[in-house]
This record gives sequence, C-alpha cells and structure tokens, in this order.
Amino acid sequence: MNALELLHTRVSENRLVEPAPDAAQREALFRAALRVPDHGWLRPWRFVCVEGEARHRLGDLLAAALLKKDSTASSAALERARSLPLRAPLLVVVVARLHSPRQPEVEQLLSAGCAAHALVLAAHALELGAIWRTGELSYDPHVMQGLGLDAQERIVGFVYLGTIEGERRSPPVLDVADFVSDWTGA
Ligand SMILES: Cc1cc2nc3c(=O)[nH]c(=O)nc-3n(C[C@H](O)[C@H](O)[C@H](O)COP(=O)(O)O)c2cc1C
Repeated sequence: MNALELLHTRVSENRLVEPAPDAAQREALFRAALRVPDHGWLRPWRFVCVEGEARHRLGDLLAAALLKKDSTASSAALERARSLPLRAPLLVVVVARLHSPRQPEVEQLLSAGCAAHALVLAAHALELGAIWRTGELSYDPHVMQGLGLDAQERIVGFVYLGTIEGERRSPPVLDVADFVSDWTGA
C-alpha cells in the first residue's frame, strides 16, 4: 500500500480479537507515534500498554471511578464499565505530558493527538485493526491517577489494537469541496 492509499483508506475497527500486535509490530507502531509534529521538540507524550489480565484491572478501575462519580450507578452500568477494556487484546493509553511552559498546552495536546492518529495509521499499514476511543472516564481524576498519570498529564485516548474480526470496513468517501474553501483577502 502506498502512503496516500494508506491515508485515504484508514478506517476504525471495533471488532478486534487476538492476536495482539507482536513485538516487531509494536516497535513499528511506536516509531510512527514518535515521528509526529512536535513544536519545540518537547516530546509531550508517552504510551502505556494494557493487555491480558491488566485489562480486567483497568475495567475494575473504570467501574470504581464510575461508582465514585455516581454512587447510584446501576450494576449493569458498572458491568459495562468493567467490560470496556476487553474489546481488544491490546490497549495503548496515549498520554499527553504538559510539563513544559515553552509551548501552549493546546499544541502539546494536539501533538499527542497526532501520536494517537499515527498509531491508528501505522496499525492500518500493518493490516492490524485499531480504534481511538475516549469516553468521559478518560478525563476522570480517579482513572488518571490509577493509570499513574501525574498532575500535568492527560489521557488523549485509548487506542484499541488487535486483529480485525471479519472483513475490513469500507471507508466513507466525503466530498473534498464540502470542506475546502479559498480565502483571497479581497
Ligand atoms: C478524541 C477522539 C475520541 C473518540 N472516542 C470515541 C469513543 O469513545 N467511542 C467511539 O466509538 N469512537 C470514538 N472516536 C471515534 C472513532 O475513533 C472513529 O473515528 C469513528 O468510529 C469513525 O470511524 P472511522 O475512523 O472509520 O471514520 C473518537 C475519536 C476521537 C478523535
């Protein structure tokens, strides 16, 4: 697949099964993430892998956070929270590190967002499946603390990775003209 075809055909996949990316694939995924635009070369990102049994512990953390926010959360809601990380064999938590005052925080967050996208694109190049997910628990202090983030760190997403179950989705094709205009200043 050439680079443009890759960019034009990427789709998110939510039916992800074993096997998880192997060591060589992970190296390729993270190298792509480390090559994103980064104002001031701050490297304002890091990546936390969650797989195997740890996904159950992440599910427990999500359920605990939900209960902390809402003591009346139903058992169905708690069960759903527990099951969220089981939707793929590997989750990569993309963490923005906002420690430097040298560039605006928003630019560092954008760079971390690019890193999440790079993971998803690289997964496509490797014929793996991936989807970038968040949800309100991504911004929950109890979840951030449980995942080991410090006060200057934020979760920009959970990139779910695995093998696509079934056929790859077809990408929707949007009309470029609907999104692009000229500004002439006249
Ligand atoms: C910051 C961010 C957060 C997202 N969070 C979720 C999410 O929690 N759940 C979800 O189903 N899709 C989420 N998405 C959207 C999917 O990643 C994906 O883009 C969407 O399902 C459309 O599919 P496509 O990428 O194939 O066009 C999020 C996307 C972004 C950029």
